[in-house]
Amino acid sequence: MKLTPARRVVGRIRLPGDKSISHRAALIASVAEGRSRLENFSTSLDCSSTLACMEQLGARITRSGDAVTIDPPGHLRAPTAVLDCGNSGSTMRMLAGVLAGNSFTSELVGDESLSSRPMKRIIEPLQMMGATIDSIEGKPPLHIRGLSSLNPISYELPVASAQVKSCILFAALAAAGQTTVIEPTTTRDHTERLFNAFGVPVRTTKEDTAATKISINGPTRFQGGDMTIPGDISSAAYFIAASLLVPESDAILNDVGLNPTRTAFVDLLRAWGGSVETADERTERNETIGTLRARNGDIVARARERPHIAPAMIPALIDELPLIAVVGSQLHGGLEIRGASELRVKETDRIKATVNNLRTMGAEVEEYEDGLFVNGPAGLHGALVESYGDHRIAMAFSIAALIAEGESEIANASCVNISFPEFFELLHQVVKT
Ligand code: S3P
Repeated sequence: MKLTPARRVVGRIRLPGDKSISHRAALIASVAEGRSRLENFSTSLDCSSTLACMEQLGARITRSGDAVTIDPPGHLRAPTAVLDCGNSGSTMRMLAGVLAGNSFTSELVGDESLSSRPMKRIIEPLQMMGATIDSIEGKPPLHIRGLSSLNPISYELPVASAQVKSCILFAALAAAGQTTVIEPTTTRDHTERLFNAFGVPVRTTKEDTAATKISINGPTRFQGGDMTIPGDISSAAYFIAASLLVPESDAILNDVGLNPTRTAFVDLLRAWGGSVETADERTERNETIGTLRARNGDIVARARERPHIAPAMIPALIDELPLIAVVGSQLHGGLEIRGASELRVKETDRIKATVNNLRTMGAEVEEYEDGLFVNGPAGLHGALVESYGDHRIAMAFSIAALIAEGESEIANASCVNISFPEFFELLHQVVKT
């Protein structure tokens, strides 16, 4: 994909449904009692992987426009072929939790990227609950033999991961008694909100430390129902960043999910002097939705102290970090990101990918095992940048291309389909060159 520098970013757009919420809603609807209809369902390939797996497990699923109707089978049935999670870590990790509580065997596979990602983090708690899981040294494929009644556990997460937390909570539906997950640092809480909204009570208590205890009592089931999925704030992030970096911009993003565990990116840009206004806030099935308006490029002029991203902030910003590094390249004093070694085990090694691409575009960058430092403000120049097959890298560097001098090309840019197939179409709608 070729991109030229932007003069302005203006317009109003509505984003497809949130990927994290869509995965969870599809899993919940597939094991609930009664039909569910999910409007503004994510158009991502990742969420299509989740739907395809649930169909193989007996759910009847129909898509019409952006709506998905799910008729659950009552009890999931044993799949007759491998379950293909594609590129989606969320599908594999959360579905493994569902499958652990069903007394049949199944095999979860993924593409080359997913096949190299760590799964010990879910294998260990699911085995404690009684499921049998075989893997190749903690990596996919996962061979799962579930049980209809699992052991309840109390489990402290060794890594801050919403996928691991959610995996255990899905398994806890089939556990006889109280299962508790203790998370040392808060991660996105869509699972907790949606469980409550679809009839499975979740108790969340904050400890004196920063830790949170999340408990549910099993065995239990969801009640199906309808929901409109909020727009994906992680997709909105690219348009917000573009509007703050390109002079004289003014973009309005309608119906975006504003769950407080997902808005850290907006809070950060505001702290750096960016103008992002919120309006029309309302609630849909325990999730906040609203309109965001992001306006022109003051962020470069206004940032004062040498900005940095501290380790405690990482889980709330995890998917936005490559984009934050691009924004950081425009801040006075640059930007340091630390405590982000989880980025090395995402769809690609996102620290390496970000460092390489920033350097290719002319920024001065230092790579650390757990992060990076990018000097700023950097005068970026157009270049051929790699996506590494990673959707967030492709989109972050498309935004970098808008503020670079000269033309850029994003190699293998179709990987944006993993989370946001409409990305380039919407970008072309609002970017004036
Ligand atoms: C997600 C959690 C995060 C995030 C991913 C989606 C989720 O992963 O990076 O894109 O929906 O729970 P981890 O839980 O591995 O940090």
